[in-house]
Formats: sequence, structure tokens, C-alpha cells
Amino acid sequence: MIDQIAAYWNERIHDLEMTDHPVGTREFFDDLDDYRFDKLHYLPRLVDFGGFTGQRLLEVGCGIGTDLLRFARGGADVTGVDLAERSIELARQNFDLHGLAGQGDLRVGNGEALQFDDASFDVVYAHGVLQYTADVRLMVEECRRVLTPGGQAIFMVYNRVSWLNAMSALMGVGLEHADAPVLEKYSIPEFHRLLDGFADRRVVPERFPVRSRLHKGWRAAAYNGVFVGGFNLIPRPLVRRFGWHLMAFARK
Ligand SMILES: C[S@@+](CC[C@H](N)C(=O)[O-])C[C@H]1O[C@@H](n2cnc3c(N)ncnc32)[C@H](O)[C@@H]1O
Repeated sequence: MIDQIAAYWNERIHDLEMTDHPVGTREFFDDLDDYRFDKLHYLPRLVDFGGFTGQRLLEVGCGIGTDLLRFARGGADVTGVDLAERSIELARQNFDLHGLAGQGDLRVGNGEALQFDDASFDVVYAHGVLQYTADVRLMVEECRRVLTPGGQAIFMVYNRVSWLNAMSALMGVGLEHADAPVLEKYSIPEFHRLLDGFADRRVVPERFPVRSRLHKGWRAAAYNGVFVGGFNLIPRPLVRRFGWHLMAFARK
């Protein structure tokens, strides 16, 4: 199964189709960074990318290195692993083009069997990765194992009880990467249970409707113009638990 997952992500690198710039150019990486942080404006609010200076940070499933580059620029001592070789090649190019040649340990690796000693990182980060792996409990346990006591894990999974999952079911619109070999969603209590090996944990639902480049024509007008505006008129505390992304902050 891990081989199938690696093969899928080698072919379908996350968000690659969201830019027209030639793959691997500086404009390509910068446009994908803009796209990501435009859509996920909650992310820099919840994760202080510049706040880990001097700390050993591991990103599992780092993709093309968009977040890892932010951590590295913020002074963290970064390591990134991903199952997909193509992602790691692009992440290396991303670092090189942004003046971080030779920095960061970027390697192909399986988050379910990390090639690192116990207690070798202060922070482990995996955004949008647990839900795509074969044995999620194993990946969570590996992330916990490589953390120092008191170290922090930051994870994001999809919320099964969310506006996007409901909309996708009602309108018959497929979710991104719905064709991946594994795609799991979790309720908030299920996510807490997954992290029950950690000493403490906090789950924050995020990712509410934002204008999207994904839709074209009348769908874009309906989605971006009507749905996004309407949804965001609802006071956030009433709908917070239905956010599509569940961010977890846990301590070993
Ligand atoms: C949706 S992408 C997310 C990429 C990046 N974290 C982001 O937020 O843009 C999922 C990533 O998880 C990686 N992945 C899935 N299972 C993995 C595993 N067992 N070990 C390492 N990486 C894995 C995939 O190769 C892919 O790059």
C-alpha cells in the first residue's frame, strides 16, 4: 500500500496544477506559496513559522517544501521527509532558489517508519498527511517517538463533520485527491482519540469558505460570489466546529 501511495503522490504533486508557471522555477514556487497562504490564511495565525529559531523541526509529508521553507527562513533547523521522490526534488529546488542551498535535510522517507532516533526533534509538523497514509496510528506513534519529551506535534486532518464534506456530498463534487489510495476524514472526538498517546492536545477547527481558483465560469460566480459571502456572514463561533481542517497542537 505504501508503494501505491508513493506512486500516486509522485504523479499528482499537491497543488501543482494551481499555477501556470513552468515547474521548478522561482515563479512557480512563489505562486504556489501565494495560492496556499491565500486559501489558508488561518495557517500563519495558528503556526508561528518564525517562532522555532534554533529548534530541530521535522516535517513529515513536506511536499514541495512550501511550509518547510517558511520554518527554515524563520531560523528552524529543518528536516523534511516525503514518500514522493519528485516532491523531495522540488523541495530541494525550492530551497536552492530561495537562497537556502545546502540547508535543510530533505529526504525521501516513510512517516510510518522514520529513519531518526528517539527524541531527536523539538517539533514535528504534518499538514494534510495523516489522512493519506496507510496506517495512521503508526505514523502518529512515529511522530511521537522522534519528539523530545515536552516536544510539540502539529497536525492537520480533514473534518468529516464539516461544511466542505457536506457540500461535496450534497452537490456530488469530488474532494481534491479523492482518488488517492487512502483518504480518511475524522470527527473531532476521533482525532482526539488518535492523539491519545500525547500528554496534552488541543484541536482547532479552521478553513472556512474562501474565494477559490478551482472553479470556473458560472460555478465560480455562484461559489465565490454567493456561497463564500453568505457563509462568512454567519458568526464564526456558531460554525467553528464545522471547519474543514482540524489543526491539532499536542505535547509529548
Ligand atoms: C496533500 S499532500 C500535502 C503536502 C504538504 N504537507 C502540504 O500541505 O502542501 C500529502 C503529502 O503526504 C505525503 N505522504 C503521504 N503518506 C506519507 C507517508 N507515509 N510518509 C511520508 N509522506 C507521506 C505525500 O507524498 C504528499 O506529498
